[in-house]
Amino acid sequence: MGKYPELHGQRVLITGAASGIGKATLERFAAEGARVAALDRDSQALSVLTHEIPSALTLTADVSVPEEVQSVFSRIDQAWGGLDILIANAGISLRHSLLDITVAEWQQVLAVNLTGVFLCAQQALKRMVAAHSGRILLTASTNGYRGHAFYADYNASKAGVILLAKTIAVEYAPHVLANAVCPGYVLTPMQKREYTAEMLQQVNANLPLKRHAEPSEVASLFAFLASDDARYITGQCVTIDGGETI
Ligand SMILES: NC(=O)c1ccc[n+]([C@@H]2O[C@H](COP(=O)([O-])OP(=O)(O)OC[C@H]3O[C@@H](n4cnc5c(N)ncnc54)[C@H](O)[C@@H]3O)[C@@H](O)[C@H]2O)c1
Repeated sequence: MGKYPELHGQRVLITGAASGIGKATLERFAAEGARVAALDRDSQALSVLTHEIPSALTLTADVSVPEEVQSVFSRIDQAWGGLDILIANAGISLRHSLLDITVAEWQQVLAVNLTGVFLCAQQALKRMVAAHSGRILLTASTNGYRGHAFYADYNASKAGVILLAKTIAVEYAPHVLANAVCPGYVLTPMQKREYTAEMLQQVNANLPLKRHAEPSEVASLFAFLASDDARYITGQCVTIDGGETI
């Protein structure tokens, strides 16, 4: 039995579910007894996931392509007839100084991290508004409200995600609740790609809790925000950062 019995049987779509935070969140919701769908553009990683969680619906798509997002939601309609919880989590980042950012890189980061979240949220909302119920959870970042050098495109995209969550919350209350989760440093494949062992150590030394978050700790926050215990929380940017921003 999971920690939140009300999540049992809930229909949950998680994007970017083949790796890192998304994968840990998929595992957590599956353990809670929810019906889970994993969207990712990495079809190979998704097929590995099928072995780990055979009950998961796996959907290969790029969140920044409207037709692909639409066809994923058609498949969800066929399989489940609706959606209770969206966790729009797929994201990319590039470490580069502002003067080096090409227009193509800028557009790519915005397309995945902001437009991709919008496209998934819009499709989910159509179904949730009709059902008079739903939870929309978006993965933003502490980068969305604090200047981090070398991530101008990423920071701007995450600031957009925070305001998107707040706008959904105010526009679709009281039936649909929407929140942004803002992790600080999380030890995932994304983070390991961009930080050397030395850089990771340096970050840890400066964090009040002296370590990165585990992906499962962010998954726990998603589970809480999807649960009945969080029924009076909406429009928030909920930070989980080991004290980074204090
Ligand atoms: N790792 C951190 O420190 C950290 C901190 C704050 C926020 N975040 C955010 O958390 C989310 C997950 O990051 P992570 O660290 O788990 O990264 P990750 O690279 O381990 O996983 C991201 C997943 O998203 C998928 N993806 C990327 N672009 C996609 C697209 N266009 N369409 C569909 N799938 C796509 C990838 O294939 C991958 O499986 C991201 O939005 C990231 O910005 C991460």
